[in-house]
Amino acid sequence: MITASELQEKLSTISIGSNTCNFSLETCERFVPLINKINQIKQEKNAIILAHSYVTPEILHGVADHVGDSFELAKAAQNTDCDTIIFAAVKFMAETAKILNPNKKVYIPSEINGCSLADSITAKEVLELKKQYPDHAFICYINTSAEVKALCDSCVTSSNVYKIIENYPNENIYFLPDQLMGKNVERYLKSIGSKKTFRYHSGTCYVHEEYDPDMIDFLKLKNPDAAIVSHPECKPSIIEKSTFVGSTSQMINYVKETNHKQYVMLTECGLTARLQMEAPTKQFIGSCTMCRYMKSNNLYQILSILENPNPELEIKLDDDTIGKAKHSLFEMFKYAS
Ligand code: 13P
Ligand code: SF4
Repeated sequence: MITASELQEKLSTISIGSNTCNFSLETCERFVPLINKINQIKQEKNAIILAHSYVTPEILHGVADHVGDSFELAKAAQNTDCDTIIFAAVKFMAETAKILNPNKKVYIPSEINGCSLADSITAKEVLELKKQYPDHAFICYINTSAEVKALCDSCVTSSNVYKIIENYPNENIYFLPDQLMGKNVERYLKSIGSKKTFRYHSGTCYVHEEYDPDMIDFLKLKNPDAAIVSHPECKPSIIEKSTFVGSTSQMINYVKETNHKQYVMLTECGLTARLQMEAPTKQFIGSCTMCRYMKSNNLYQILSILENPNPELEIKLDDDTIGKAKHSLFEMFKYAS
């Protein structure tokens, strides 16, 4: 059992310029009964909660059993022996947990569970592309639906995309759906003299595509010693100006392991909130950009799934899709190791 003042003490270092991320004692008093109830029922029902770093701090620090980037959460889903998984994140991540655990019940708390990348390509479009490029290996970012994964040769996440595409044993590669990540990989392949033919689709993450290099110049003018830490879903012009580029967990490790005067985190601001709790002596500058899908998960929905699950929020996939999508995920585990 946690008390409101214990919760507030945990969350007191968060201040990223938004009301949603300020935790008064009054706010914590509202959260604590929900948090304690969720933790109690979770144990009784042998359920676990997996949460992406972008979701709200009260979920991350109140009820989550595992917090991480999409690769770490896929691994956590692979290794669990619980009966029910509640995936506080977006639908494609919950589908990944279901693909790896077909016999468990997997739920997503929010009905607003899309992702501008996953929603940018359908299985029908992939089939058309495969007809157009029959000699290409199709590599998909994990931010895709289960049906799209089922049509691809291998999956990747932001923590292993460069490594897997560089080492994938096919000279012609079609990467989907993120065009900005595609451009960043293309730039990397050129820099190492790779002879691969590399094509990519046209999707974008609506959060990461917003960052412009002018913004970095502006922040650097005032804070010349600030490290620019960015996600590979950002534009190449951002990557060029970055001190470090990596998945959300790699970004966290970089901040924890280095000693820059300030950090500009070019990703969803849940990550900065998490770092302000876990590395409270570090200084962060810049504004807060939220993912409306990730931020639509809340404690009420999680409790409601545990008490009286809405069948609409259960992830259901057919066996054929699960089998084929699993192959694409296992190829990722193989090439990432
Ligand atoms: P990570 O795997 O780096 O956490 O990325 C997931 C995502 O959706 C980033 O926008
Ligand atoms: Fe999708 Fe972008 Fe939200 Fe990540 S931040 S879940 S890529 S919309």
